[in-house]
Amino acid sequence: MSVTNKTSPSAVYNDTVVRQFAIMTVIWGVVGMLVGVIIAAQLTWPALNLGIEWLSYGRLRPLHTNAVIFAFGGCGLFAASYYVVQRTCQVRLFAGKLAAFTFWGWQAVILLAVVSLPMGMTSGKEYAELEWPIDILITLVWVAYAIVFFGTIGMRKVRHIYVANWFFGAFILAVAVLHLVNSAAVPVDLFKSYSAYAGVQDAMVQWWYGHNAVGFFLTAGFLGMMYYFIPKQAERPVYSYRLSIVHFWALIFTYMWAGPHHLHYTALPDWTQSVGMVFSLILLAPSWGGMINGIMTLSGAWHKLRDDPILRFLIVSLSFYGMSTFEGPMMSIKTVNALSHYTDWTVGHVHSGALGWVGLVTMGSMYYLIPRLYGQKKMYSVPAIELHFWIATLGIVLYIAAMWIAGVMQGLMWRAVNPDGSLTYTFVESVKATFPFYVIRLLGGVLYLAGMGVMLWNTVMTARSGRVEDVRIPVLNPAHA
Ligand code: HEM
Ligand code: HEM
Repeated sequence: MSVTNKTSPSAVYNDTVVRQFAIMTVIWGVVGMLVGVIIAAQLTWPALNLGIEWLSYGRLRPLHTNAVIFAFGGCGLFAASYYVVQRTCQVRLFAGKLAAFTFWGWQAVILLAVVSLPMGMTSGKEYAELEWPIDILITLVWVAYAIVFFGTIGMRKVRHIYVANWFFGAFILAVAVLHLVNSAAVPVDLFKSYSAYAGVQDAMVQWWYGHNAVGFFLTAGFLGMMYYFIPKQAERPVYSYRLSIVHFWALIFTYMWAGPHHLHYTALPDWTQSVGMVFSLILLAPSWGGMINGIMTLSGAWHKLRDDPILRFLIVSLSFYGMSTFEGPMMSIKTVNALSHYTDWTVGHVHSGALGWVGLVTMGSMYYLIPRLYGQKKMYSVPAIELHFWIATLGIVLYIAAMWIAGVMQGLMWRAVNPDGSLTYTFVESVKATFPFYVIRLLGGVLYLAGMGVMLWNTVMTARSGRVEDVRIPVLNPAHA
């Protein structure tokens, strides 16, 4: 890898920070999924906890969720948003030093999570487990991110703000609000704090946060990716620009109200649960609006799917997005939730969104980005991308099918009663019946992780054979400005 540097900084894009985040996306992907495979193995054979507290399931599970969502997904979102905002605004990233701070600050947050979670330090709030000093660091990084992103939009040379930036912008703003409100806590000492809320209010705030973490972290930001990288890779304009705007506003308005579907049949007032259910059902429409818009962007270019594995990653990710956003509203219906809640069906739903949508769209986008960040037209090995696609897809299918079957089976076993009213099955019988499905899920996870390993190898080879060079910002035709 050689480095060339000829032009003045303001005439070229700041791709250094994009490159750093892109590489860390792949590395954290491997780490986060490896921990996923370990906990999947522990659920199958609990002895794999090895009696060591740092390796116990309860500590590694939040490490997995934090690593895949915030480290793998987060780095992917930083990389994509910084790349896209510069290209669509035709300017260099605003405040380069702050952008560098977001990279190092975010890596520090992740490393602190890697240390503190296995040590058992946790606020006990799912997806917001990190203790208050780390929360403060997250806030600083996020404010810097907002300044860099919106500063770049403010300096843009193109009057129009491309729709991908609307999604990235909504993701940045909403996550800021969610983090600030949900993380409000009273510190006891450096390592322990208690939530500022109590009882059912605490639960409500937590799941308003939790569901919008899905809506804005795991969805809106990735839709931003989808709106840039699918048209680019397919060399086709977005199918309907109008639909992109309509589903943007509908999506961000609706998501905010759906959180109570996580708290059906709890102490939360019943009407609140019903509001959550109704908004979840409405959410199907804007979600599918986005999916259809992305998939239809391929109109007239379907043949490209045959020999372009990157496009296949991107389009198949949308199919999983469509699937999980159909399943979610169904699971939010109270009577369906009475069966699915507490079972592995939820875990299947989560991973059809996480592996199928978030994972594949990130991988596809990184396969587009990485060669370009190293002065190449394509990755070092295209057959390796092909291989990655097939083992990842097979892994997802094994994972989610196993969890669906296990989940429905558990729900039915738990509610089965004998004519005299006693339970037909003990809980442990349902655990025993789940064993084969846990083995299949583990196999699916190993395949998905193996695909990520192939991606890491391909990334290293691309970086080694490529070169880091400045990319000039085109001088705009005034008619387009
Ligand atoms: C090799 C790939 C992966 C494997 C083997 C894996 C495995 C697991 C396991 C075993 C659990 C615990 C389930 C339980 O508590 O019963 C889990 C939870 C979770 N994983 Fe993964 N995972 C993988 C990838 C991912 C990715 C890429 C994401 C997100 C982008 C993700 C997001 C989550 C979330 C959000 C949960 C919590 C689910 C809930 O609370 O219902 N996982 N994963
Ligand atoms: C229209 C969109 C969606 C709706 C209405 C929806 C609805 C639901 C419902 C009803 C649950 C089960 C709650 C429970 O019984 O505890 C759930 C869980 C979950 N969903 Fe979705 N979902 C949607 C899309 C997605 C997507 C695209 C993803 C991931 C990318 C996702 C990630 C999750 C996670 C992580 C959980 C588990 C939360 C936990 O208990 O820890 N959802 N969702």
